[in-house]
Amino acid sequence: MTHDFEELRKFVAPEILFGDDARALCGAYAERIGMRRVLVVTDPGVTACGWVEPVLDDLAEHGIETLVFSDVSPNPRSAQVMRGASAYQEGACDAIVAVGGGSPMDCAKGIGVVASNGGHVLDYAGVDRVVVPMPPLICIPTTAGTGADVSQFAIITDEVNRTKVGLISKSLVPDLALVDPTVLRTMSAELTAATGMDAMVHAVEAFVSNASWEMTDNLALAAVRRIPQALPVCCTDPDDGPSRRAMALASLDAGLAFSNASLGAVHALAHALGGRLDASHGECNALLLGPVMRHNFRYVSHERLELLAEALGVSGGSYAENIPAWFDEFRASLGIYSEDQGTVLSESDFESIARTASVDACMATNPYRPSVPQLVEILHDALD
Ligand SMILES: [Fe+2]
Repeated sequence: MTHDFEELRKFVAPEILFGDDARALCGAYAERIGMRRVLVVTDPGVTACGWVEPVLDDLAEHGIETLVFSDVSPNPRSAQVMRGASAYQEGACDAIVAVGGGSPMDCAKGIGVVASNGGHVLDYAGVDRVVVPMPPLICIPTTAGTGADVSQFAIITDEVNRTKVGLISKSLVPDLALVDPTVLRTMSAELTAATGMDAMVHAVEAFVSNASWEMTDNLALAAVRRIPQALPVCCTDPDDGPSRRAMALASLDAGLAFSNASLGAVHALAHALGGRLDASHGECNALLLGPVMRHNFRYVSHERLELLAEALGVSGGSYAENIPAWFDEFRASLGIYSEDQGTVLSESDFESIARTASVDACMATNPYRPSVPQLVEILHDALD
């Protein structure tokens, strides 16, 4: 008997606790999971905002020892992951708690992979390369957008080849996400805009991905519906509780959507471009969204574009043209511009970024397979 597995879809998600002050339950949950000595992975910015100290105190109150690893930069490098893995080993830790945005959470996942499997973190780049499960991991996200708190992805910078690589494995799904909108208060307007646009890109790429299905569609469209209203408010008034909650939810929905339907050419190009320029992931994505979708939408049905337009609040005309134009206007309204980043790159840089992007794991689920010259054209559209 033959089977057609092409149509099968799956869905993985961690346990999620959502709402103001969710972070205060870290110690109780850590104790329940059986954590005894925790490596707390964070970065200096999050520490300065005061979000780490209370987590350490809470863990201590539950009889759990902690060791802090905060040598994490934006776009975390493989060398940082390896230093974190040594700290984990030398500290005889048995679990990890990540407090921060995408960088500390991805770094924490990389540390977990190396702690359980040995070798170098870049050995596990690609899909399903992680054999032994990670130690238990709790994530407390302090930005709204990356989705690392619920996803099976970790993005690490390969500093030798100046690109970013993705580790994609069910083993990377955290055990618990404590999603607490309160902590979004301390983000700058720039960080709010960049991470919020990352969530928008997750939702849109998951929706047009060739691995999408009803469960991921619902989540993607829910995120797309919330972001146009909530994100501008969060940028100008971080004390607006309902908007903060809406962005935390949108990040969660978009994160679950992309973790299970994967991404596409926006992320593939953003990984290569961000690795080359050491540029912000969210900003690269925001600049690329409109230009990539102008091509992608030729391969997406009118019915699906209509659903997307409806969720965004875009009406009339050709969806294939108006939705990408809306994306460009929206990111500009949030203060994200290319600032002629294209001028720092030579034509051969454009080609090598396009070539790197064309073999990125995210490209596999783009609605069509762009050629390297097409990717060069998209990069020029986004950056010039
Ligand atoms: Fe992303």
